[in-house]
Amino acid sequence: MRVHVYEKGFLGVGAVLLVVIMGTLAYTSLAMGIHLPGHVQQVDPAQVRTLPPFDNPGLRQVGENRYEAVFLGSAWQFQPAEIRVPVGAHVTFIATSTDVLHGFAIERTRLNMMLIPGQVTKNDYTFTERGEHLIICHEYCGAGHHIMYGKVIVE
Ligand code: CUA
Repeated sequence: MRVHVYEKGFLGVGAVLLVVIMGTLAYTSLAMGIHLPGHVQQVDPAQVRTLPPFDNPGLRQVGENRYEAVFLGSAWQFQPAEIRVPVGAHVTFIATSTDVLHGFAIERTRLNMMLIPGQVTKNDYTFTERGEHLIICHEYCGAGHHIMYGKVIVE
């Protein structure tokens, strides 16, 4: 009998929490306009390879010491697989996925993005030291997930 009462209590707590959390989510996204970090625009994942800037992925210089790095994530590779930037380069990463959810984390930086099909993600980073950084897919994306990586070489 006792157990039954506790069980009901816990179910009640769970239900209340669910309502509170869903309410908070709805409030922050609808009323406060808070979205995924870096969410900038939408794009059709089926067309993305033909649409600029994703029709030409890679690194380009856009100003003094400023670069744009356009990346596509697809099972199971990043395109481009590697970029080389000079020390001190301020790089804006613009990325999306052509198929499923992928991760885009650059080791030893604060850069950690999600590549979501249909969404363009954008984030900036300044590379202040020489060295190599792996780009890691940290969202499980299928059989080849563990071989999905890229590289930023700062030289
Ligand atoms: Cu892509 Cu895991």
